[in-house]
Amino acid sequence: MSPHTHSPTVSTTPPPAPAPAPPEPPTVVLAPAGPLADGAHPPAAEPSTPGSAHTPTAGDTPTGRTTPDPGAPWRDRPLPRSWGWAVPGGGRAAHVESGALYQGTTTQVCGLFPFAVASGAVPTGVPIGQHMHTAEEVGLDPSEWLRGGLVTNTGMWIMGQPGIGKSTMVKRLVTGLVAFGFTAVVPGDLKGEYSALVEQLGGRVWRLGPGLGALNPLDAGPLAAALAQTQGTERDRLRETIRARRLALLEALVVIVRRGEISPTERRLLDVALDIAVTGAERTGVQPVIPDVLKVLTTPLAELLSITASEDVAEFRREARDLVNTLASLCQGAIRGMFDRPSSVTADMDTPALSLDISALDDADDDVVAAAMMSAWAWAAAVIDGSTALGRRRQVARVQDELWRALRVAPGLVERSDRVTRLGRHRGEVSMQITHSLDDLAALPSEADRAKARGMASRNGITVLGGMAERDLQAIHDITPLTTPERALVRSWAAPPSWRAGTRHPGRGKYLIKSGDRIGLPVSMTLSPTERELYDTDQAWRRPGTGTPR
Ligand SMILES: Nc1ncnc2c1ncn2[C@@H]1O[C@H](COP(=O)(O)OP(=O)(O)OP(=O)(O)O)[C@@H](O)[C@H]1O
Ligand SMILES: [Mg+2]
Repeated sequence: MSPHTHSPTVSTTPPPAPAPAPPEPPTVVLAPAGPLADGAHPPAAEPSTPGSAHTPTAGDTPTGRTTPDPGAPWRDRPLPRSWGWAVPGGGRAAHVESGALYQGTTTQVCGLFPFAVASGAVPTGVPIGQHMHTAEEVGLDPSEWLRGGLVTNTGMWIMGQPGIGKSTMVKRLVTGLVAFGFTAVVPGDLKGEYSALVEQLGGRVWRLGPGLGALNPLDAGPLAAALAQTQGTERDRLRETIRARRLALLEALVVIVRRGEISPTERRLLDVALDIAVTGAERTGVQPVIPDVLKVLTTPLAELLSITASEDVAEFRREARDLVNTLASLCQGAIRGMFDRPSSVTADMDTPALSLDISALDDADDDVVAAAMMSAWAWAAAVIDGSTALGRRRQVARVQDELWRALRVAPGLVERSDRVTRLGRHRGEVSMQITHSLDDLAALPSEADRAKARGMASRNGITVLGGMAERDLQAIHDITPLTTPERALVRSWAAPPSWRAGTRHPGRGKYLIKSGDRIGLPVSMTLSPTERELYDTDQAWRRPGTGTPR
C-alpha cells in the first residue's frame, strides 16, 4: 500500500525535537503516524538515497548553514519511518524510554503487529532462527548457556516426528560450534547425512562397513598413547578407564549379537580373557582384537577353567561354547572384516570435525547396526578422553543421531552405552542426542531400560521439541513440563491443517527450545542456499531438475 493512500488509524506522539536545538529548526510536517503494521512502512525509495533527485531547501542543519534539504520532497508525506524521519531533527531517538503497558482486545491489538517491543533477553550462541513471536534472533550454545547460569549441564535432547528437521537443526548448531572452536564428533552416522557437512567444515569422514573400513572395538585409540605418556595414579586411572570401557563394549556386543543378557560366569570369563589378551597384545606393542580374546577362550589357562569349575579343557569348551560362538559371529558372515581386525580409523582431534559414516550398514540387520553404533560411540569417547589426557583439550560437540537404532536391540544396552560413552561435564562436551518420540523409548526391551532411558533424556539441560502428536506430548511431561499453549504450538506443527498441496509442511524448521520449567523459546529456522544443499535428506524424493521439496 502506498503511504500516500494510507489513512492512519492511530495517532502517535510527534517526533521529539533534537537535543541541541538547531538555530533554524527544520520544517517538518507532523502528520499523524500509522500503526506499526505493514501499511506503516516507509516508501520504497529512501529520502537520503544517494543520487536521488531532491529539491534543495534552505536551512535545515544544526549549524544553521544554508544547505540543501534532501528530505524536502518527502516532507508532505504522511508517514515517517517507524523510527522517525531519517533527517536531522526528524525525531530519530538515540534513547528510547521503557514503554507503558496497554491492554486491548485481540481484535484491536492485532492491528499493531509486528510488535516493536521484544520478549526480553534472548540467549546467545549459534543463531538458530527467529523467535516466532518476537522475530528476535535466538542463539543456542549449551556451553555459553552453562557459563551464563542458564543451564546446569550441556546435554541436549532433540525429539520430533520424522522429517521435521531435527538433524538439520543439529547440523546448524554443529556448524556454528565449529566456528566457535569446537571439534564436532559424529560417531555412527547411520544415514551418512553428516558426511557432506563434515567435509565442508574441513573435517575427516571415516566410512565403515564390509569392504570399507574396520573399527576394532578393543582399540583404546589415543588413550593408549596417553597411557604411555602418563605415570603414577593418573596412569592407573587411565588404565582402569580403558579396561572398563573395553569390557563394557565387549559385553554390549555379546548382548547385541545374542539379543539376550550375559550370565555372571560369562562376564567373569570375558573379564579374565580380556586381561590375558591385552597383556599379550601389549607385549608386542599392538592393540588387542576380538580374535585374541577368542583364542584365549579356546585355549584356556587354569584361571579360566576355575571360573567354570571345569575339570578339563573339553568340559570348559562345552561350558563356554555359547560365549565363544557369540564372539565368533562378530568375526564372520556379513560383517567379517569390520570388528575383527585393527582399526583403519585413526584419531585426530586437531581436525574441526570427525565422523564415522556407517551408512553402508543402514540396510543391515539391527544387531549389526547396533554393534557398529556402539563401537563407534566407544571409539569417539576414547578419542575425546585421549586428547584431554594428552593435554590437547578442545571443546567437543558430539552428535548421537538415530540413538534408538542402537539401544532397542537387546536388554541392558542403555546402561552399557552410558558406561561406554560417559564423559564428565568437566570434559567440555556438548552432547546432542536425537530421537523421534518417546515411543522409541517405550519400545526398549525391559522396564529397567525404559527407566534408565527416561533418566538419560531428562538429565539433559536442554530439550528441543519439533512437531509431534498429542500422544507424544503427554508422555513428554516427564522430561520437560509444557504449558497448554506450548503443547498446542508443538501439536500444530505435526501436520498441515488442510489437504492443499504445495505449501511447506508447518513443522519444518520449527522448534520449541525448553530448559527446566521456563517458558520455551519457539524458533523458526531458515536455511541458507548452501545449507539447503548440504543438509538435504530429501534427495530421494526429488524429481530431476526440481529444487528442494518444502
Ligand atoms: N528450516 C528448513 N527449511 C527448509 N528445509 C528444511 C528445513 N529444515 C529441514 N529442512 C529439510 O527437511 C528435510 C528433513 O530434515 P531432517 O533430515 O533434518 O529431518 P529429521 O527430523 O532429522 O528427519 P528423520 O527423523 O528422518 O531423521 C531435509 O531435506 C532438510 O533439508
Ligand atoms: Mg534426522
